[in-house]
Amino acid sequence: MERLYNRHLEAPRLWYPHEQINWGTGENFGEHPWSPSDYPLSDGVRSSIYVNLLTEDNLPYYTSTLLAHAPKDHPIRDWNHQWTMEENRHSMVMRDWVHITRCIDPTLLEDGRRVQMATGEVPEPETFADLICYVSFQERATQIAHRNTGAHLPKDDKMGRNVLALVAGDETKHYLFYRDLAHAAFAIDPSTMLIATAKQVTDFAMPGTGIPSFSRHAVRIAREGIYGLQQFLKDVLTPVLELWDLDHLTGLTKEAEQARDELSAFVAKIGETVERMAQKAAQAANALA
Ligand SMILES: [Fe+2]
Ligand SMILES: [Fe+2]
Repeated sequence: MERLYNRHLEAPRLWYPHEQINWGTGENFGEHPWSPSDYPLSDGVRSSIYVNLLTEDNLPYYTSTLLAHAPKDHPIRDWNHQWTMEENRHSMVMRDWVHITRCIDPTLLEDGRRVQMATGEVPEPETFADLICYVSFQERATQIAHRNTGAHLPKDDKMGRNVLALVAGDETKHYLFYRDLAHAAFAIDPSTMLIATAKQVTDFAMPGTGIPSFSRHAVRIAREGIYGLQQFLKDVLTPVLELWDLDHLTGLTKEAEQARDELSAFVAKIGETVERMAQKAAQAANALA
């Protein structure tokens, strides 16, 4: 843990939220109320910005969940503080960009923030093994979601593309920390880690379930090709599970062997669903043509 934490600190990503924003382009909302025509954008991309920003807003609850698994005077506690410091700038810079460019409705956003934060709903993995498996997938998933959202912004919104690239870059570093921490844990206790992985993968939900109309937004985001089952399989599960090399783990308990079988059956099932969805989409496109 200490080695990975030091590795993280050795390559600091220093960037200033205030320097990323073209402040001169802003307008008062009192004189110029928000309208969708201020920044034409598809519903799916708007939903993605909304959900991703609200997820970043929910940081206090993620921090408290992480600290619940972090003993005093242990390097994981220092990591949690560093992580919180880095995560905190994501909602700052994203909200400044959102307000200046008017890419989503600021009233809807604030209403969503109030509802979500008043519930304090975040996933709460039971054990430390569960936690490091879950956050490995979660950091990777947020990295992909921010990256793909940025790629869907209009080419002329350089500010937005830059903001989301910076945020996605931080998520990448968080992902690498947890992914490699979990990998090291597999060497110490493969059975516990395998059981935790199977549990976290089969139960995995994107953060944000406390957001109003979350499912409706999730469907739009998936339809837009930003983040859905396909990305979860191809960009999240596959690279992480390959690196952990679960097929070659030896000396497993019976329970862990069973967890491995369940996990591979589950991944195969997702693969079939993704395949079926792709076929349907292709048929629909052909019919339209
Ligand atoms: Fe973040
Ligand atoms: Fe992160």
